[in-house]
Amino acid sequence: MYKINENYLKLQGSYLFSNIAKKVAAYKEANPEREVISLGIGDVTQPLCPAVIEALHKAVDEMAVAETFRGYAPDLGYEFLRSAIRKNDYQARGVELDLDEIFISDGAKSDSGNIGDIFGENNRIAVCDPVYPVYVDTNVMAGRTGEFLKESESWSNVIYMPCTKETNFAPELPKETPDIIYLCFPNNPTGSTITKAQLQEWVDYANKVGAVIIYDAAYEAYISEDDVPHTIYECDGAKTCAIELRSFSKNAGFTGTRLGFTVIPKELEANGTKLNALWARRQGTKFNGAPYIIQRAGEAVYSEAGKAQTKEQVAYYMNNAKTIIEGLKAAGYSVSGGVNAPYVWLQTPNGMTSWEFFDHLLTNANIVGTPGSGFGPSGEGYFRLTAFGTYENTLKAIERIKNL
Ligand code: MLT
Repeated sequence: MYKINENYLKLQGSYLFSNIAKKVAAYKEANPEREVISLGIGDVTQPLCPAVIEALHKAVDEMAVAETFRGYAPDLGYEFLRSAIRKNDYQARGVELDLDEIFISDGAKSDSGNIGDIFGENNRIAVCDPVYPVYVDTNVMAGRTGEFLKESESWSNVIYMPCTKETNFAPELPKETPDIIYLCFPNNPTGSTITKAQLQEWVDYANKVGAVIIYDAAYEAYISEDDVPHTIYECDGAKTCAIELRSFSKNAGFTGTRLGFTVIPKELEANGTKLNALWARRQGTKFNGAPYIIQRAGEAVYSEAGKAQTKEQVAYYMNNAKTIIEGLKAAGYSVSGGVNAPYVWLQTPNGMTSWEFFDHLLTNANIVGTPGSGFGPSGEGYFRLTAFGTYENTLKAIERIKNL
């Protein structure tokens, strides 16, 4: 008789956003007359920009002609896209990379889960708390997290680094030594950031203890303040301890078209084995590349027109963030985030739990947000609103919250 991966049985409930979607669907079915506004999952609402659409059309036409038709993409991704990434995201920030240190993928969510394939089962992970649930759940699936402790709502073999008001929503170096450290800045869900000097401390620490940092920089385009690093490789020594994940979802609206990339420097070695070579082997075996037309669309993000148009989109969402922050503050809420990230993190009022506030907002204001406790135990008592809605809906939602 075949055996299943029993680690899956340890997973708690369903994936956070699937869980919320089910609750919202049930509410809508019971209340069809209500107009529900979603400021929940961080999904974009603005259409792909004209430069990207033009590139997509052109690439589709190429696929219709034998001479320009493309089959399987190269394992690492097309060179035209990797060159554009290297030039604009790295060389422009003083970081030199070889092209084969950049791996194109179908998004940072898959990469953040799949990257675990190249690490042994006996690694101890450290995560921020609250945290993007994919990092923890995929490690549960891989059998690295130990048992779920109901009382503390946490995993016995995971090192949690609380990010609360007391720590300015930034993690402190852990007391126990981890092997794999997940960091995400600008942060999902709290919207916080750390300075380059603070990130340098993490890089120095990882190099000292022999840990690897998985650095999720999916929200990099939202950085508005100086002194916030755009890539971990701005820090000295990061190439010997860090993998960076990037996405086209949030900077260019590719949530539905799927495109991302992972950087693994060749200097990154474990006992003489290059992680770059392991990931290349993993991708070559399990992945057949992001579609040609989507990679052409990604290339267009780096054209002069693409850069200007995507910058405008980011500004549109950040204006929503400002609207949310100002509105919530006026209504007496304690809020953070939303300055270098499209997420606003608020404290639930009147001692409500995160899920109580979720129900309260859904029922009384018909607004969907994300309960902080869904991101980890230290998220209890907090709530996340996303700035990715339309401006009109954002305004309407804030008015409804003010009138609660
Ligand atoms: C979120 O809402 O946290 C994000 O949309 C999740 C993701 O990017 O996968």
